[in-house]
Order: sequence, then structure tokens, then C-alpha cells
Amino acid sequence: MRFALVGTGLMAQEHIRNLALMPGNIVAALVDPEPASLAWARRSLAESFGPATAEIPDFADVPSMLAAVEADAVIVASPNFTHHDVLLLLLATDLHILCEKPLCATIADAEDVVARSGGRRGIFWVGMEYRFMPPVTRFIEDVHAGQVGTLHRLALHEHRFPFLPKVGDWNRFNRNTGGTMVEKCCHFFDLMRAIVRAEPVSVFCSGAADVNHRDERYDGQVPDIIDNSFTIVDFDNGVRAMLDLCMFAEGSEEQESLVAIGDRAKLEVGIPSGIKTLSPRVPLGAPKAVTREHVAVGDDVLAAGHHHGATYFQLRAFLDAAEGRAPVQVAARDGLIAVAMGAAAEISAREKRVVGMREIRA
Ligand SMILES: NC(=O)c1ccc[n+]([C@@H]2O[C@H](COP(=O)([O-])OP(=O)(O)OC[C@H]3O[C@@H](n4cnc5c(N)ncnc54)[C@H](O)[C@@H]3O)[C@@H](O)[C@H]2O)c1
Repeated sequence: MRFALVGTGLMAQEHIRNLALMPGNIVAALVDPEPASLAWARRSLAESFGPATAEIPDFADVPSMLAAVEADAVIVASPNFTHHDVLLLLLATDLHILCEKPLCATIADAEDVVARSGGRRGIFWVGMEYRFMPPVTRFIEDVHAGQVGTLHRLALHEHRFPFLPKVGDWNRFNRNTGGTMVEKCCHFFDLMRAIVRAEPVSVFCSGAADVNHRDERYDGQVPDIIDNSFTIVDFDNGVRAMLDLCMFAEGSEEQESLVAIGDRAKLEVGIPSGIKTLSPRVPLGAPKAVTREHVAVGDDVLAAGHHHGATYFQLRAFLDAAEGRAPVQVAARDGLIAVAMGAAAEISAREKRVVGMREIRA
């Protein structure tokens, strides 16, 4: 498949390295208004695919690429606030589209994309790739197979490093990203829905910008993005879920951990350890019956990205769907609901109240 890359910054480099692990796929065009990013992508292409990639054309915008290049698929990896405008152009074509998360920075833009994404020949896929980290995929399968019994509660923890610098520092302000609860946490809200298999009813979030980026200034402005929060989501099947985010915990051994508890057992998994632990309930005083399993990821796949294999396995699933072998697993509507949950959390944190999902979507 011939891929065009729209946005050739950090995440595009990861897509390039992972595409190179899948023979038969090539990069056919690069689109980015920033020459330094195009040069960065060219270096990655040469390292991953070889020197012949010097011939690949590059463009400053999507219309000039569409006018000049025949491609089969496109990956949108430009900043969140550009996704809507870029997608309007791409949705008018038959290209298969993989749009990086979050689908858009606002609910209104995401709803517009959902409305326009039907009835096309090409597939539309939102890059909510945490579902595709192998230990997470196995965790989801185990919950769905009933290993915890009937699921009642789900706790997701992300304890990680602060946001990295970006081209033009776009990720320092809510107006560009949708806010941390959209930008970063859409991954976890999507995971909640994938695990719980129900829809969110209400969101309560306590969060603030307490530690990170406090001494940075951009045209005199201080970054306004949340760097830690607790969010509670109630689902329409009675399951309650919680997201615990801390972005000044770079020393943490596990970056992500997922804990599902049902009426029969507790199941947890950690990233990057890949250790999955099942702890069935036992009578008080009886010996514990804990079982542990290591879910491995290949070294070549780990080395190609920063997301524990997620980009690789998501791209494979995207190709399967684009070639008609499997369904789309993360559709535009999934992207919209993850954005809406994040937007609800942002409102909740600001206004210090529970936000009903019905009040924020038409
Ligand atoms: N899946 C993940 O876990 C993950 C991880 C990191 C980033 N992302 C997402 O990927 C996207 C890009 O993030 P990044 O970290 O690569 O940012 P980045 O700043 O490193 O790169 C973005 C690039 O897009 C370019 N750009 C700006 N406007 C454009 C336009 N209209 N058309 C084409 N290119 C344009 C910029 O010049 C820049 O080179 C964001 O939506 C981000 O949320 C996803």
C-alpha cells in the first residue's frame, strides 16, 4: 500500500519505522509546512527503507499532494487543531485514512468528521492505539472471556513523564490540543469503552496544572494544560471506571497499569513489564491463588516505537481492514466519544462538578 504522511513530526517517524517492518508498504508522499520536519522524515525514511527514498516527493499542504500523487492510504499526524481542516480535504477522496488521536480538538469538529466519514470507499480509522499493545490486548480478551467474572470496576493508571517539546510547542495550550484530558487521556477513555463494552453516562474529574511547564513562557503566556488528575466515569451498564493520570512521575517503574475487578477475581497488567496477574477471590484466610504471565513483544517491534508495540499492531490491523480482511476496530464514532469524554473531564475539572454526557453532545 502506498502511504502519504500528513505531518512529519515525532509520531510520523514512528509510523515510518513501523511501516518499514511490513514488506509491501511504501511511503509515497510527505506533507508538512515545516522544512525541518520534512528533513527529519527523510532521514528516518533513508534509515528505515534505504537511500532510494530520496525520490519521494514532499509538499507543504494536502491539496498540492492530492493533485500530484497517487496514494492508497494516508496517515494524519499533524497537530490536533489541524485534524479537522486536513480531514475535510481527505474525506473528499477515496483514500484509506488513519487519523492520529485525538480525532479532533473539539466535539463539534469530531461530530462533523463522523458525519462526513460514512459512504466512502476508503476506510476511516482513529489512531487510538493503546488497545494494540499486546499486554493490553490480552488483558481486554481476558476480561471479555470472563476471567474476573462480572466486571464491576476498572482502574487505569498512567504515571509518566511530562509532555515532550513539539514543533512550534503547540502541545502547551488547551486551545491547540483540546486539553490534556482530550489530548492524552482519549487513549484511556477509549480503553474504558473497549473493556467495559458500554457507553459513558457521566464524568467527574479533579485535575490541575500543578508542577510541569510552570516556568515556561510562550509570548508571555504560561502553559495551561492539566498535568495530573483523577477522573471517575460511570457507564450505562453500571460499571464504574477511574483514570489516575500523573505526568510528573517519570521515575515510575510501570508507565501504565490497568486493573479490572469483578465478582470472581482481580486482573491487572503493567506496561512496560508486560506482567499480567490474575488474583481470584479466595475464602478469608485461605492461600492466595495468584497466577502471573508475561506477555512478550518482539524486540524489533519495541525498537520501532515508543508505545510498546501499539503502532505496529495497529498498523497491521489497519491494513487488514483496508484490504477487506477484517473490520475497522476504531471508527470515527469511537474517536468522537473519546474526545467527548475528554472534553467532559476538562469541563468537570474547571467547573468542579459532575458532567453528564448528554449535556455536552447534541
Ligand atoms: N498515538 C499516540 O500515542 C501519539 C503519540 C504522539 C502524538 N500523537 C498524535 O500525533 C499528532 C502529531 O503529534 P507529534 O507528536 O508528531 O507532533 P509534532 O509537533 O512532532 O509533529 C507535527 C507536525 O505536523 C506539522 N504540521 C502542522 N500543521 C500541518 C498541516 N496543516 N498539514 C501537515 N502538517 C502539519 C508540523 O509542522 C509538525 O512537523 C498529534 O495529533 C498527536 O496527538 C499520537
